[in-house]
Amino acid sequence: MNMWNSPEFDAHEQVCFFTDEATGLRSIVAIHSTALGPAAGGTRFKAYSNEMEALEDALRLSRAMSYKSALAGLPLGGGKAVIIGDPGKLKSRELLHAYGRYIDRIGQTFATGEDVGMSVADMDTVREVTPYVGGTSVGAGDPSIHTATGVVHGLRAVLKHQFDREDFRGIKVAIQGLGAVGRRVAERLKDAGAQLVVADIREDAVQRACKELGAEALPVDQIHKAAVDIYSPCALGGVITTQTARQIKARAVAGAANNQLVNAEAGLALMQLGILFAPDYVINAGGIISGLEAALRMPGRKTAQLKPLAEQLAGIHDRLCEIFARSARERRPPEVIAEQMARELIGR
Ligand code: NAI
Ligand code: PHE
Repeated sequence: MNMWNSPEFDAHEQVCFFTDEATGLRSIVAIHSTALGPAAGGTRFKAYSNEMEALEDALRLSRAMSYKSALAGLPLGGGKAVIIGDPGKLKSRELLHAYGRYIDRIGQTFATGEDVGMSVADMDTVREVTPYVGGTSVGAGDPSIHTATGVVHGLRAVLKHQFDREDFRGIKVAIQGLGAVGRRVAERLKDAGAQLVVADIREDAVQRACKELGAEALPVDQIHKAAVDIYSPCALGGVITTQTARQIKARAVAGAANNQLVNAEAGLALMQLGILFAPDYVINAGGIISGLEAALRMPGRKTAQLKPLAEQLAGIHDRLCEIFARSARERRPPEVIAEQMARELIGR
């Protein structure tokens, strides 16, 4: 394993490896930047096929967190944690406590919250042994609610820029993943008059969406090809490659999943095909915006006058409008513009 040679390594400030033999815990915490404040980012509990894959996920996701917080105007840096293993088999109260004690040991440099494989209840358990945990049942509560709100604000920016529309009536949206965020996005879009096409590996979630939201179901390997206006990836990352980009019929890609583009070429392909891409770390910032209270408790943080939560979430719309406008003017993909803006903010 050579971290410094990895394409995902971007002068990360600190990377920690933690092991607890008694509970089977193996965890990696990557801290990309603390330039704007203590690093914050979720904990992903996943059955990685090997340690390098886990390390690279932590490196990639932590850099995205630096960009996410910087562009959301938060006084936070970027970090991310991964726990290696199948959460269904490995997760225990003891393991979460062992993990929490390590988070406590890093202290004041990193605060965490949920990500794929971790629930609000899990974060409550971690919180029993360390204060550096957000997204618990106290405070703003389940971050996925706020992430969904932010995604819908972002979708309105997409509507305006790409469809010259202010409302969702008659707009067809394909939602990939009906989990905590995707299901809520689906409900809100339905209420706003959109037509839904959905896919999930959980058949029960699909059936519910068809029954309760009048959605049309598609197989999971077909959803990105749906004949819709907007394709909204709300499951896992890595869904846009140069190949899948060519199969997309939607005129925009905008959803909650982290790291949707496999590489820069995939983003370029979308632009060349006239498909508008909403950079994921801009549109999905609602979770970190709502869950940042743990990081704000840390001494040494920069004190910033933060706007009320609802106003910050609404800001996602304006930020995306600005990025889309610059992208059109400069003829460069939105994610390139967003990355440049974020790197300027963190002094890289
Ligand atoms: P979740 O685990 O609740 O939901 C994910 C859903 O995707 C599940 O229903 C799962 O069955 C489904 N799924 C998995 N593989 C699939 C496939 N191949 N095709 C279709 N569906 C599939 O996760 P959550 O919290 O809704 O997050 C979704 C995405 O948004 C993740 O990428 C996460 O990193 C990202 N995100 C979540 C935030 C939050 O506040 N929860 C904040 C920012 C980003
Ligand atoms: N998982 C969230 C994201 O990817 C991060 C998060 C951090 C959520 C802290 C809640 C609390 O943006």
